Amino acid sequence: MPAAPERLRWPAEAIWQAVEPLWPGFTVEVLPEIDSTNTELMRRCRAGRLEPVLLVAEHQSAGRGRLGRSWVSSPGASLTFSLGLPMRPPDWAGLSLAVGVSVAERLAALGVAGLALKWPNDLWLGAAKLGGILIETASMGAQRYAVLGVGLNVRKPDLPQPQPAAGSVPLVPAAGLQSVLKLNAPQVLGQVVPALMQDVRHFEREGWPAFAQRFAALDGLAGRRVLLSDGREGLACGLGAGGALRLQTVDGLIEVVSGEVSVRPQD
Ligand code: BTN
Repeated sequence: MPAAPERLRWPAEAIWQAVEPLWPGFTVEVLPEIDSTNTELMRRCRAGRLEPVLLVAEHQSAGRGRLGRSWVSSPGASLTFSLGLPMRPPDWAGLSLAVGVSVAERLAALGVAGLALKWPNDLWLGAAKLGGILIETASMGAQRYAVLGVGLNVRKPDLPQPQPAAGSVPLVPAAGLQSVLKLNAPQVLGQVVPALMQDVRHFEREGWPAFAQRFAALDGLAGRRVLLSDGREGLACGLGAGGALRLQTVDGLIEVVSGEVSVRPQD
């Protein structure tokens, strides 16, 4: 008889207690299945629901990644959640980088070695992708609502992953957190979210400069030759003031903004 799927116990109450003092009105919601936690929070935002919320899905049927890609995972194979937050930072530049820093630092503090951030939105374990971040925002009157989506592979994905354009280095998914950390998806969530909510508050006050050095310590591209999806290539030289990727190319030093390109290390 096939093994019954693991029944997950989500630490919703503990997360709520840790976060609510910092984010009044905060709620936690766990759904067995939805199309995409980002899509759902954007729908709620458009319907005028702008309260701070953590939405977790045990399974997403239409998870989304950057640049129109999909985030594919079978039930239990990835930790997928989104935070919907009314935010007022003076400058939004670098928010997704700050989220990556927060998640990576927390996992490293739990003992995961070999983590790196691949600008702009990927979390890598060794030479393979462990997770990704998808940030979306919407304005409702004077308010701006941010949806911060995080997907982390808990097990090595057993479904084919969307691949970058032909000619790029193929994307190899990492073995998953459970190969290096004896925590399941709910336990990882309980460790990551309270620290992330503090870091997002910090970002609201201080902006990207408060995270720049922390990112540099985790920068998985610095000093490597990289190829952009628009054909440009060069040597990655860290990030510029607003979190743009600095590339030394044959035509000089350029700054790449995260908008529409994807980046692959060539080595
Ligand atoms: C990427 O690698 O391009 C970003 C992946 C982001 C995936 C997460 S899973 C939770 C949230 N809901 C989604 O549909 N996407 C994000």
